Amino acid sequence: MVSSIPLAGVMGWPVEHSLSPKLHGFWLREMGIKGHYVPLTVQPTDLARALWSLPALGFRGVNITVPHKEHVINLVDNVTPIAQKIGAVNTITVEEDGSLHGTNTDAFGFIENLKARAPEWDVGRPIVIIGAGGAARAVCVGLLEAGATEIRICNRTRSRSESLTREIQGNCIGVDWADRMEACEEVGLLVNTTSLGMHGGEPLSINLDRLPHHAVVSDIVYVPLETRLLAAAKLRGNTVVDGLGMLLYQAQPGFYSWFGQKPAVTSGLRAHVMNE
Ligand code: ATR
Repeated sequence: MVSSIPLAGVMGWPVEHSLSPKLHGFWLREMGIKGHYVPLTVQPTDLARALWSLPALGFRGVNITVPHKEHVINLVDNVTPIAQKIGAVNTITVEEDGSLHGTNTDAFGFIENLKARAPEWDVGRPIVIIGAGGAARAVCVGLLEAGATEIRICNRTRSRSESLTREIQGNCIGVDWADRMEACEEVGLLVNTTSLGMHGGEPLSINLDRLPHHAVVSDIVYVPLETRLLAAAKLRGNTVVDGLGMLLYQAQPGFYSWFGQKPAVTSGLRAHVMNE
């Protein structure tokens, strides 16, 4: 039975760090919707029971965050092809009959943000991806769907970039970590999908001398908003795209399916989410 006051939330463990309640709360207030979006701390051992309780609790759906994104795929009733391809679910909708529908909006979020912040980006030029983890997978799937013609995946552990290349079956090639500078030649987009550059951690060590000046440089790290990679790229004239936008855009489809209205990504939302 779905509640008349729409309820949604984010399931993770831990979940206190999640910016999703803040961002969905902003949209609910902005649109005057009498709904709630709450953080749900769920341990891995409780994941199945928590998910299957959502219809009885009147939830319209939830976002899924670390460490549950991959496990959830086996616990919902149906999964979209893009979530299957990415191998993870980040958005669940409770259907009228109480069944759980899982999808993944990370690839959508990445591409929408890229198009909004770097409209000049040319999908026909080669792309360099730094990293080969879960985030890299979502970004590569999004780029291939958008028509990418060549993706060079550069990861510290070569075997992981090789598996990613095999699994996503697109125009992807694995590149040695030591060759990351050479790989930047003639590219139109460079994306860091690792946590390198995050506040308090080590930066991504890369020399951008070989990167064309027309290339777009994107980072999925958003704390800080301007990573050392983005600062260096900006200094030499490249268009830069920070990681916050991906987070904001990936939230749009879930909000629409639970609360029935299309939310906008605006500078007001960006400021609200980043300012405690
Ligand atoms: P996520 O799901 O957030 O992508 P992940 O699956 O753990 O997280 O992947 C983390 C990525 O960051 C990997 O590509 C990892 O490289 P390895 O496969 O070699 O582990 C990369 N990474 C993390 N720390 C790194 C470091 N110090 N130097 C280079 N790459 C690093």
